[in-house]
Amino acid sequence: MISWLLLESAAGERGLPWRDDFLSPRERQHLERLRFPRRRQEWWLGRYAAKVLLSRAEPTLAARPFSAVEILPEGGGAPVAFVDDEPLPGVLSISHRAGLAFVAWQPAGGELGVDVELVEPRPSSFETDYLTAQEQEALTRVPDSQRALAVTLFWSLKEAALKALRQGLRLDTRQVEVNLPELGTGGQAWQSCVVINPALSRRWQGYWRGWGKAVLTVVTDLKEPQLEQVGYLVATESGWQ
Ligand SMILES: CC(C)(COP(=O)(O)OP(=O)(O)OC[C@H]1O[C@@H](n2cnc3c(N)ncnc32)[C@H](O)[C@@H]1OP(=O)(O)O)[C@@H](O)C(=O)NCCC(=O)NCCS
Repeated sequence: MISWLLLESAAGERGLPWRDDFLSPRERQHLERLRFPRRRQEWWLGRYAAKVLLSRAEPTLAARPFSAVEILPEGGGAPVAFVDDEPLPGVLSISHRAGLAFVAWQPAGGELGVDVELVEPRPSSFETDYLTAQEQEALTRVPDSQRALAVTLFWSLKEAALKALRQGLRLDTRQVEVNLPELGTGGQAWQSCVVINPALSRRWQGYWRGWGKAVLTVVTDLKEPQLEQVGYLVATESGWQ
């Protein structure tokens, strides 16, 4: 089982119902160290989304205040949830982009990474710089109308896989390879694919779906997990809808 939630800021990266009472003292210190407004806002969105997710997915947390759950970065930046100073068993992944925060929780532990990306055209140098030869070859069979979607999916699934490995872009994106089946209409249902790391002889299950102008991607070591949405929140300056 993987639980996921999406939080959307109605006014993009501005106009959040700013408050910090859901943060622990250590989280507030972390936030204070972030200097750039955009980074502060995306961190805020990701933390709030993750705390709503955990309170809905973990019954033991339902009655605890959000500030009792701390989400702190480990050395490499991957988020870890703590309750009463103990790591919460399970694996959390966070992504944010253009006022959207996409978060997922895999209580069984293991490997999980998520990503949200806007579907937009990218220069052909992007493909040669970041995609494997096999992924570039697969693109030759994609109709022009779906090329931006396919390139975005390759990139997003790679980022999700590199997060599942808890490495992020410290690793070359060509070390993981995405095997995308035909894209179909690219609709709102989850579609599956396979992501591999040939050097490590590793294989993960990948999932993707559209969300407005964005795609959501999930990479996991679980076989055929259930993906359960536990919420969709819209933040406005005056509160939540
Ligand atoms: C992980 C990474 C690929 C995400 O990049 P991104 O597309 O800009 O951002 P996303 O919104 O999709 O994801 C960001 C979230 O990924 C998570 N994350 C960061 N590093 C991670 C890692 N090593 N493994 C798993 N998750 C990670 C964090 O939760 C982060 O959000 P937060 O800092 O607000 O908690 C990128 O930040 C990275 O490679 N970081 C590690 C290397 C690094 O620090 N490089 C410095 C800049 S080159």
